[in-house]
Amino acid sequence: MSSQIILPRLMQVGDNASQELPAVLHSLGCQRPLIITDKMMVQLGYSSQLHTLLAEHNIAADVFDATVPEPTVSSIQAGVNMARNGNYDCLIALGGGSPIDSAKAIAILAKHSGEMYDYKFPRQVNEAGLPIIAIPTTAGTGSEATRFTIITDEISDEKMLCVGMGFMPVAALIDYRLTLSLPPRTTADTGIDALTHAMEAYVSKKRNPYSDSQALSAMQLIGPNLRRAYYNGNDQQAREAMMLGSTLAGIAFSNASVALVHGMSRPIGAHFHVPHGLSNAMLLPSVTAYSIPAAAERYADCARAIGIASEQDSNDTANSKLLDELTALNAELQVPTPEQFGIERQRFVELMPSMAEQALASGSPGNNPRVPSADEIIAIYQQLWPES
Ligand SMILES: [Fe+2]
Repeated sequence: MSSQIILPRLMQVGDNASQELPAVLHSLGCQRPLIITDKMMVQLGYSSQLHTLLAEHNIAADVFDATVPEPTVSSIQAGVNMARNGNYDCLIALGGGSPIDSAKAIAILAKHSGEMYDYKFPRQVNEAGLPIIAIPTTAGTGSEATRFTIITDEISDEKMLCVGMGFMPVAALIDYRLTLSLPPRTTADTGIDALTHAMEAYVSKKRNPYSDSQALSAMQLIGPNLRRAYYNGNDQQAREAMMLGSTLAGIAFSNASVALVHGMSRPIGAHFHVPHGLSNAMLLPSVTAYSIPAAAERYADCARAIGIASEQDSNDTANSKLLDELTALNAELQVPTPEQFGIERQRFVELMPSMAEQALASGSPGNNPRVPSADEIIAIYQQLWPES
């Protein structure tokens, strides 16, 4: 059996990779970019730095800076209008996962008719939108190297998963320097998201030898460096490892799919506005404990790749170390429980059945080594409330 692997056409990786943007645009034959970003990138000066860099190379860029965290159908509409009316030949997506995910949706809607709802899974969106050059500033969602975007339908509160080659950026500039100013909270949330991508890709039923190799490399990079980057944001070695690890984890899950953690995490994010990495982190220990019996060897490999178990450890020992590590990581990186995050317990309990249905409908739980029923998903949600 063979596996289809989809990647960006060009990746520029390493120190100051983002400075190569003019040359990358030139090599792609693009001359009229629209930068898709958010207010934080404008505030930090990243957007104007790119604008200046492009101007120095006689490239006139416009900026759309109104993307929001956890993008919605209405939040991207102004960007779609701007992209449709502005005669642009490419989009530069600058920021964390949300600006990049927004740019992916804008790229398709600007070029093709319809609403975002029309493009949600299980439709495969393989038509080309405007070409995207992604410049991630977190490590990270891996969105710069995935064929997915997530847009929330604010009417149903559903996080719509949209899938296909049309959402893969043509180029990704992977520059760890852009992550040096990330605060510890974002470093932790996005770093655990990347770790979750690598682990889920490695245990996914859709895994393949290529995605395995990327997932293991990602875990080897992220495992020893997540705490370092959290405690010292200026640790360049750790930031560089996290950035590369995050992109490799993105490649891994884009070609193998995520699984139960992401399936259960999206409804929490949609209903309670928990940042994506944080809801993953809340779920990762419980979902891993639930899943280990169906893939003990795979999870033990994860423990070894992360660096907390040795080759001499049995699979059982490695897996108990893995569960201890995931719990310890959440405690150390101050991941709140849903209650500490401020979620009202009664409302969470009321919504559990529909969240379970939404999780199953996304398709991700079907990729898990142990495929849960709706009742089993509810039981895992309940574990997030320890005294219940
Ligand atoms: Fe994720």
